[in-house]
Parts: sequence; structure tokens; C-alpha cells
Amino acid sequence: MKRAATAMACVLLAGCDAMPPARPGTGATRARTESYVAVPPGSVPRGTTGALAQLLPPGPPITRELMARGRERYDVFCSPCHGRAGYGDGVVVQRGFTAPLSFHVDRQQDLTRARVVEVITSGFGLMLSFAERIPPQERWAIASYVKALQLSQSFPIDRLPDDLRSQVER
Ligand code: HEC
Repeated sequence: MKRAATAMACVLLAGCDAMPPARPGTGATRARTESYVAVPPGSVPRGTTGALAQLLPPGPPITRELMARGRERYDVFCSPCHGRAGYGDGVVVQRGFTAPLSFHVDRQQDLTRARVVEVITSGFGLMLSFAERIPPQERWAIASYVKALQLSQSFPIDRLPDDLRSQVER
């Protein structure tokens, strides 16, 4: 149990470099201890550990490309349930799957990019993990787009530039 807890903490905290080696001993335990000792200081983590490090906040800077990718991936993976605009009314929901909370209700306004990345990574309640299908950088892209969707539905009209405002008010 304690071991499971450590492994979980380790997944959440970015990687297992900090995981304490097992008690020095013989056989398998010893080999494991030695492999920890053999890692030179400052080595670049690779494989899973590297991927986990990419999940740490603050994540990549928000650029036009990141946003475009996020939109595209959101539409593929998330909109079937969360809806294209994030109201929790996607086609899967229309066919009977439990509706997620709309991203636009007050309670969801403090949703952070990091939290969205965490939910994509680990799942949440009825929602399964997408860790197998969406690589870390794309999780940040999607998370950024979710924040943009929220902003798009709550931005005060009088703060829009004139040309955009006339389009919205039409
Ligand atoms: C199969 C339907 C489905 C898909 C696809 C789906 N979700 Fe969800 N999502 C849900 C449901 C249902 C909940 C609410 C779960 C619950 O309350 O048990 C949820 C909850 C969430 C939450 C809220 C977590 C919180 O703390 O309240 C976030 C954020 C989220 N999903 C993001 C995403 C993103 C991003 C994607 C695409 C990568 C995605 N979801 C794909 C069904 C889905």
C-alpha cells in the first residue's frame, strides 16, 4: 500500500528520479540499488520520466500554433462529450452519456491549464485518462484552448475592438 502510494506520488510529482532506492541487499534488490547509484548526476531523463517532466507547470508558452493545435485536438478528443464550445453537450452526451459540467459555469472558472492537463493525464470520475493517446505537449495545447473557450464565452463585449463588436452585436 505504501509502495503504491509512493508510486502514485511519483507519477504526480514528475518522475521517479527521487524515489528512494530499496534497502541495499542481494539479488534483484541489489541490482536495483546499483542502477540508481550508476546514474551520473545531471543526466537527462528519458522515456517515461522525460514525458512526465513535460507535464509540470507552467507548461509551454501560449502561441498561435499551440492554440491551433489545441483547438484541433480538442475537437477530436474532447468535443464528443464536452461540446465544441465547452457547454458539456457533445454528441456522446446527447446519446445518453453523463454530461460533464459546462466549462462556463462559475465553479469552473478557476480551472487552470495545469488542472486540465492533469485530468487529461489521469482521468477524472467517469472520464477516462487520455494518456495513451495524447502526448504531453498536446495536453498543454488542449488545456490552453479550453481556457480560451472559457474566455470566449465570458469576455465583456465593450472591451472588444470596434470591428469585432459590431459583428457580435449584429
Ligand atoms: C466520454 C466523454 C468525455 C470525453 C471524451 C472527455 N471528457 Fe472530460 N469529462 C467527462 C465527464 C463525464 C466529466 C465529469 C466527470 C465526473 O464528474 O465524474 C468530465 C470532466 C472533465 C473536467 C473537469 C474536471 C474537474 O476538476 O471538474 C475537465 C477539465 C475535462 N473533463 C477535460 C477534458 C478534456 C480536455 C478532454 C479531451 C482531451 C475530455 N475532457 C474528454 C467526459 C468526457
